[in-house]
Amino acid sequence: MANVHEFDVVVVGGGGAGLMAAMNASKTARTAVISKLYPVRSHTGAAQGGIGAALGNIEEDNPDWHTFDTVKGSDYLGDQDAIEFMCREAVDAVYDLEHMGLPFTRNPDGRIAQRPFGGHTNNVTGKPVRRSCYAADRTGHMILQTLYQQCIKNNILFYDEFQVMDVLIVDGKAAGVVAVELATGELHVFHSKAVIIATGGHGRIWEITSNAYAYTGDGCAVVARRGIPLEDMEFFQFHPTGIFKLGILITEAVRGEGGILFNAKGERFMEKYAPRIKDLASRDVISRSMYLETRAGNDVNKQRFFYLDVTPEIVNKYAEIDGRTRPDGTPYRVTAEEIMSKIPDIADFCLTYLGVDPTRQPIPVQPTAHYAMGGIPTNKFGQVVIDEQNTVLPGLYAAGEVACVSVHGANRLGTNSLVDLVVFGKHSGLHAAEYALGADMPSLPDDPTGFMREQIDRLRAASGSENVATLARELKVEMFDNVGVFRTQAGLEQAVVKVQELRERFKQVKVTDTGKVFNMEMMQAWELGNMLDLALITAQSALARTESRGAHARDDYPARDDANWLKHTLAWMNGDEISLGYKPVVITQYAPKERTY
Ligand code: FUM
Repeated sequence: MANVHEFDVVVVGGGGAGLMAAMNASKTARTAVISKLYPVRSHTGAAQGGIGAALGNIEEDNPDWHTFDTVKGSDYLGDQDAIEFMCREAVDAVYDLEHMGLPFTRNPDGRIAQRPFGGHTNNVTGKPVRRSCYAADRTGHMILQTLYQQCIKNNILFYDEFQVMDVLIVDGKAAGVVAVELATGELHVFHSKAVIIATGGHGRIWEITSNAYAYTGDGCAVVARRGIPLEDMEFFQFHPTGIFKLGILITEAVRGEGGILFNAKGERFMEKYAPRIKDLASRDVISRSMYLETRAGNDVNKQRFFYLDVTPEIVNKYAEIDGRTRPDGTPYRVTAEEIMSKIPDIADFCLTYLGVDPTRQPIPVQPTAHYAMGGIPTNKFGQVVIDEQNTVLPGLYAAGEVACVSVHGANRLGTNSLVDLVVFGKHSGLHAAEYALGADMPSLPDDPTGFMREQIDRLRAASGSENVATLARELKVEMFDNVGVFRTQAGLEQAVVKVQELRERFKQVKVTDTGKVFNMEMMQAWELGNMLDLALITAQSALARTESRGAHARDDYPARDDANWLKHTLAWMNGDEISLGYKPVVITQYAPKERTY
């Protein structure tokens, strides 16, 4: 018999969204957090350059400009009501974090410092605006630490190193989750009135990625197996500046501080592709430009990488050319010390992984799989919606990268992931607690651990000939080559066939560890199953979408096609079959226009 625990609200995931949700739910409801990691090791800690909010601390700004930039950045696929809500709430969210003690970098006048980031503009001049609030290049890390302290203060119960493998839905309502305790292999039922899924993204599906090892799409896979659709999974963002070959993130803040991208000929190639904001264009635009440069033979050493140069000589030279000034109107000029103080962790990564001192040498970079715009469909209160009519599944919530609200549409602007997770983490927590207070405890199914035991027993008995690491490697290479920055019909068809083949081979996988204590071999096999499910959904959703929009760039359909494709994809998984449906995009103020930067 499994251990059974009872709560009003159970939050799955200990990253920024999960902690924010738990902190807010715990104000009125008995709340627990279940996390496969120790919470402060969550991937939110990898977010570097800042959280966007129109504080206007350095120059004129307002939430309407943030809203428009986000809509435009999303290539008009973002739901505008949700985007307006997020950008308005962002300002208070940042001040709330400040009041909780987050150590933001400061202006000389003591107010929160702000830096430019891709796609964030003064809507009148079209020039970059300083909107990203930051704590050096450790903003996500500081958010995690700050929120975790608040959760401990609120006596929230944490179940660390518990892997959730199933969500319980009884009579069309959430009734809890089932998890395995990694240290013992024991099964636990978390019986609750409300469940908030905040398990993050699935970037480990791709070969080169900035994502942590934990980002295997568990939350999406678990709910998809329970018949809930996933939204807009074809839209996955490639960040232009990952460390060459390793994919580790080099924050966009490096370009915010004046860093410039160069090709093998020493050309500042972004001038060609985004003449107005150049190196601070949105990520989809820059990643595609790098691929086009590669096709033109302009990548460095013909190895598909470019140089990002933040040495003071280069920063100062181009600041002069661009006419960049400091807030007081004086010319923008930097020293090596100043650069080090703004990007200390980046300097450390460059030295550790590349032997490069970024204040003296350029950094070799290439696009890296970074962020899932798609995920579990929700409304702006975090409630999961399960069909084309946005019908709510009572008691089930999702927030953060695992969710698709949709505020990022086809392409997310940098800094908006942290805004998303604090704003929608908060509101899902508040809404779930309110729902729980008015709801009876749902009954449990007769055998609550049945479906999960089936999955575990299958993996414990897995004595086939296929190796988890080999299958994972083949999956990642296929996804990077054919479901990456540029896509074609033939490549996507090949990817679908390959993923289907890998799913068949996965049935013959071998797990040698049959023990219960920290059986990570078995857990990695289970995670691979999740990645295979999400890869198939991603490739099939991408194959169906015969247009280019945001991060989904089809070589064979290069234009955006609003007449046929201004709509969200919904993908249902039924065993090995995927079925697709569509729902409209919410447009309030901004009719779709051509995007130029
Ligand atoms: O470039 C970065 O610092 C990443 C931020 C983000 O993904 O929002």
